[in-house]
Amino acid sequence: MTQVLNEPIYVAQLHELSVGIGKKVTIDCLELALFRQENDDVLAVENRCPHKGGVLSDGIVSGEYVFCPMHDWKIDLRKGEAVAPDVGCVKTYNVSIVDEAVYIVVKE
Ligand code: FES
Repeated sequence: MTQVLNEPIYVAQLHELSVGIGKKVTIDCLELALFRQENDDVLAVENRCPHKGGVLSDGIVSGEYVFCPMHDWKIDLRKGEAVAPDVGCVKTYNVSIVDEAVYIVVKE
């Protein structure tokens, strides 16, 4: 894992991501969920719900939010926070897009 920290890591081509559908990607032992937005921004979060570990890439997407498939918590994909009354957060990751290539940066 050490060698991937702070380096942009290629994860997908933009056309492989669909608006409204999460995509799971794995970097070493880290599993992320990518969510393409209407404006072609891509938001990336840890692919594990802060409640009981539901797989967020399988959730229902609504703009910048995803509803966990397990118990329907609503997670803000920009902040990584569960929306009240639920509490907890997931890690978020910086995404950069160069031409069609999507990169994320994993920080410690
Ligand atoms: S595991 Fe996500 S809401 Fe329960």
